[in-house]
Amino acid sequence: MHASPIALTVRRRQLRQGLAAAVAWIGLPLWHTARAQAAATPLPAVSEGPFYPAERWRLARGRDWDADLTQVAGIATAARGEHLALLLRVVDIRGRAVDGHTIEIWQCDAAGQYHHARTEGSAGDRDPGFQGFGAARTAADGSVRLRTIKPVPYPGRTPHIHVKLLAPGGRGEWTSQLFVAGTAANDRDFLWRQLGVDERRALAIALEPAPVPGQQAGLRWQSTHTLVLPG
Ligand SMILES: [Fe+2]
Repeated sequence: MHASPIALTVRRRQLRQGLAAAVAWIGLPLWHTARAQAAATPLPAVSEGPFYPAERWRLARGRDWDADLTQVAGIATAARGEHLALLLRVVDIRGRAVDGHTIEIWQCDAAGQYHHARTEGSAGDRDPGFQGFGAARTAADGSVRLRTIKPVPYPGRTPHIHVKLLAPGGRGEWTSQLFVAGTAANDRDFLWRQLGVDERRALAIALEPAPVPGQQAGLRWQSTHTLVLPG
């Protein structure tokens, strides 16, 4: 007995749907596994460098050190450079959100100058509109929103953002550096060259053009990146 054209059409449709479901079923766990492996690389330790602004110095300066590094209290002009919205999310090794941890970042300004006790008063172009350092505490979903500038190179280094994770109550501290994915100068950077493939993936932030300026006027780039709390 031959199946009617309508029955054949229905069967073909069922076959296609079944195939799609099978691909989704097989593909989803693979995708999750790959993602979990990539995300499970604990934050690699990278040198703090010589320009971490000590808390005592920060307090003595009396400036604001909030999560927006592109605006400094009392300074009318915004930071020079290309502004970057940086959404960082902290998870543990199992992918669970880590809240109540402090994320600190610091980097040089658009002129390549760090804002630090060692560089204070030194000659050279400095950007008073750039905070140089900022901090925020992770929310319940493990995320913090920071606004800074796209890091620029300075002699001997590829563009990078220093980062420090601090557990509450002094229960832990992890220091590293974030690099910009796809930057050619990374391959010549002595610290980047010491990192393995997974470590590079864990530390390379991908920059995307920010949406058309509106509420976030002047924003040029955005990036979302996950940091895995070691151990
Ligand atoms: Fe640095």
